[in-house]
Amino acid sequence: MEHNGKLYIETVGCQMNMLDSELVVAALRNQGYELCESPKEADTVLFNTCSVREHAEHKIYSSVGRLKYGRRKRPNQVIGVIGCMAQKDQQKVFEKAPHVDLVVGTGQLAEIPRLVDEVRTTRKKQVAVSLGRRDGSRDAVAGSFTSYDPLRDPQMRPSPWQAFVRIMIGCDKFCTYCVVPTTRGPEQSRPPSDIAREVRTLAEQGVREVTLLGQTVNSYKHTEEGRLHRLSDLLEMIHDTSGIERIKFVTNYPKDMTDDLLQAMRDLPKVSRYLHVPLQAGCNDVLKRMKRGYTVEDYREMMQRINATLPDCAVSSDFIVGFCGESEESFQKSMDAVREFRFKNSFIFKYSPRPGTKADDLFDDDVPESVKKRRNNELLALQTAISEEDNAEFIGRTVEILVEGPSKKASRERASMDLPGWHDAAKLEATDDGAGADTVPADSSGAAASAAMQLVGRTKCDRIVVFDGNPRLAGTLAEVRVEDCTATTLLGAIVTREVQHGSAGLLPILS
Ligand code: 5AD
Ligand code: SF4
Repeated sequence: MEHNGKLYIETVGCQMNMLDSELVVAALRNQGYELCESPKEADTVLFNTCSVREHAEHKIYSSVGRLKYGRRKRPNQVIGVIGCMAQKDQQKVFEKAPHVDLVVGTGQLAEIPRLVDEVRTTRKKQVAVSLGRRDGSRDAVAGSFTSYDPLRDPQMRPSPWQAFVRIMIGCDKFCTYCVVPTTRGPEQSRPPSDIAREVRTLAEQGVREVTLLGQTVNSYKHTEEGRLHRLSDLLEMIHDTSGIERIKFVTNYPKDMTDDLLQAMRDLPKVSRYLHVPLQAGCNDVLKRMKRGYTVEDYREMMQRINATLPDCAVSSDFIVGFCGESEESFQKSMDAVREFRFKNSFIFKYSPRPGTKADDLFDDDVPESVKKRRNNELLALQTAISEEDNAEFIGRTVEILVEGPSKKASRERASMDLPGWHDAAKLEATDDGAGADTVPADSSGAAASAAMQLVGRTKCDRIVVFDGNPRLAGTLAEVRVEDCTATTLLGAIVTREVQHGSAGLLPILS
């Protein structure tokens, strides 16, 4: 059946999902599809979904629901629900949203181009999901979750200079509240040689910062040619990739924060001094019911090791408030933990019972919503105050940042003025020969340079910095003097910046 070749994709959830969308878009563009901005224009609409909390699922189902009537005017439209919710709900997606044509789980995304065609030719609903965790041997289940990472699409990246690289899929920790071991399957680490090759390719395309992704990224383990590779070995292996300036990795599991990893971070200058290591709760009874596998004392010991090896390292956390049986006293222990560990920032979530998880089977969701909300606000207010105090320590200091591009504010202004988007801007920059002056001052307005705008970048300890500067600084390291701050952002002014002669060769290839 004929279709207009336009693809709309909506992505919610974690960085894994953003990367999955990049890969799906790459595969469909290979087949001649082009991205568009609205589901109304597209004959192919995909929702890449998240199941971690119920709220995220409701939002997706209402977005999907909104397409029901438009669909009548567009009989060729194929609507797909893909990712975590697809793996979890499978056929149930069709019961909740009968106009959906396609359901594809996280481990079957490579099938999407074929299945979209299949729907178009047969007009029959298609489902591709992996095995459930109890539907076969570990190997059989693991084999049913495949990833196809080499296919990339630069247009889908956060910026042309930054890319995610998956180093493992799945999770075997089975925290009692979490659906991820079900939706993403068994833990499997990719071969280090594949990862190193992918990082090289990305660097050749202009990427300056890679973020290695895994649900428990520091549990990475892969034996290749008889040698065990841990995350520390992998960091060492990719560190000297020409063109790469920064390496980050998320998310860490406290129990797997080994000394070899901390020492590798200390010895490898391109690795960010930043660790996201979710504590989840400050009370040992709650941690035990969550089956997190550590106590607050274990976490404290880990923090002492981090501080001893990497004194300038920022640590951030996740917390769940209102987990089953969380008393006021247990909650206060999460408050105490935030005071003690002074996280750079914390992502705070209200507990959301997830069908099929141990916690949902075993425990009562006995903390009222109003109490969850209050605890969420209280913990957030405390964390915000701490973040602001610690950010204020940076005022007056000069920090090295990797410039990502225009800030959200500048991008919004660009869009409202109908100027090209950031990827287009980078493409225009790439046509410039780049052999400009050796230093570009903050207010540079030379003929070869574009006008200054608000830019954003991150310090080596992952703090966000905004400052006014020339957009040509994007993708480079710059020195910024911090002048003010909020809880989330440092506000600064550019000091000076080295421009490499003939840097045009390093600019990204955006096909
Ligand atoms: N309810 C609330 N928050 C959850 N998270 C995971 N599962 C749940 C749940 N059922 C949070 C954890 C995790 C983050 C990605 O989401 O804090 O680290
Ligand atoms: Fe979920 Fe726990 Fe695995 Fe993190 S470690 S993905 S919280 S099961």
